[in-house]
Amino acid sequence: MPMIPFSLARRLAPALQPLRWLCARGWLREADVDLCLRLLHPVLRLQRVFAQVEARRWVAEDMLALTLRCNGNPQGWRAGQHVQLYLQQDGVRHGRSYSLTAVGRDGRIELAIKRQPGGRLSNMLLDRLAVGQVLELAPAFGELQWPDDGRAVLLAAAGSGITPLLGLLRDALARGFSAPITLLHQVRRQGQRAFVEELQALAERHRNLQLCWVVSGAPGGRISREQFDEIGGEHLIACGPQGFVEQLHGWWTRSGTLQVESFSPLQPLAADDVRDVQLRFARSGQQVQGSSQLSLLEQAEASGLRPAHGCRQGICASCTCTLLGGVVRDLRSGALFAEPNQPIRLCVSAPHGDVEIDL
Ligand code: FES
Repeated sequence: MPMIPFSLARRLAPALQPLRWLCARGWLREADVDLCLRLLHPVLRLQRVFAQVEARRWVAEDMLALTLRCNGNPQGWRAGQHVQLYLQQDGVRHGRSYSLTAVGRDGRIELAIKRQPGGRLSNMLLDRLAVGQVLELAPAFGELQWPDDGRAVLLAAAGSGITPLLGLLRDALARGFSAPITLLHQVRRQGQRAFVEELQALAERHRNLQLCWVVSGAPGGRISREQFDEIGGEHLIACGPQGFVEQLHGWWTRSGTLQVESFSPLQPLAADDVRDVQLRFARSGQQVQGSSQLSLLEQAEASGLRPAHGCRQGICASCTCTLLGGVVRDLRSGALFAEPNQPIRLCVSAPHGDVEIDL
């Protein structure tokens, strides 16, 4: 039972500044201070962001919107960015990034989570996460920006790519953006159209918003070049699987800006290619046995290292590190990289043989 109410725990964040100062100078240990703070309230921490689940609502047959209330530590988060969310389950810490579909001034945020076949954390959150539970979040990342020069905007999403675009859309409409906006959402099945009622209500209220759904599993499926050319918009923001985003990129000929974000499923490794390898982490002077199957980020963490990271999906670049020797495989495309001193993203790179990295 928390000793103080949530609202007080949130308001305490600025008052903890002297403790942060003492920790920064090494006179206190942050972990010890956090241990005491969490006795007051489970979300209370010096620097780290913890949040309590406030509400859950299904927004498509396979997508859940979670409303979370954060402690006072998030800084400058924007709807349309992504955050890494961590959940401790049976002693194992699982993490994955999700898009912020809303960020409120009162510390409330909304994340949308899509069911993934075999997705351990996503499915755990969808099926078992209860209102009142406490989660940890890493700092938000993501560069998509609403183009505010008053020209028409086309938002194009496939699958869960709708989630950052919804965040941007809600914000732009709330700020009074009045030029035409078209939101195109491509899904496999009708029931995967997300936030439909809310989007329709927004379109009722804001006559400049047009909605367009494409059901790729239905006859006449995927969007064609001709259909795409007929849709208005001077700026394009696209988000979805790599193939979808690359296609729109290739079709885009208009004068406005083009912003894209893509995600691609990791390629499973053929059984013959799974082997033990030697990993050398040069800066920390460690040499360990690893596997050609797992990302270098996972293996570095399993060796007790704490490399910087954000999305764990190859998007944010915060895990970039220098390859000093050996060959790594891009887990998304299968491409091999062997050039020494080239930057690699640890979260989507697996060793193809023995490797040395600057970590
Ligand atoms: S953690 Fe974001 S690119 Fe690796």
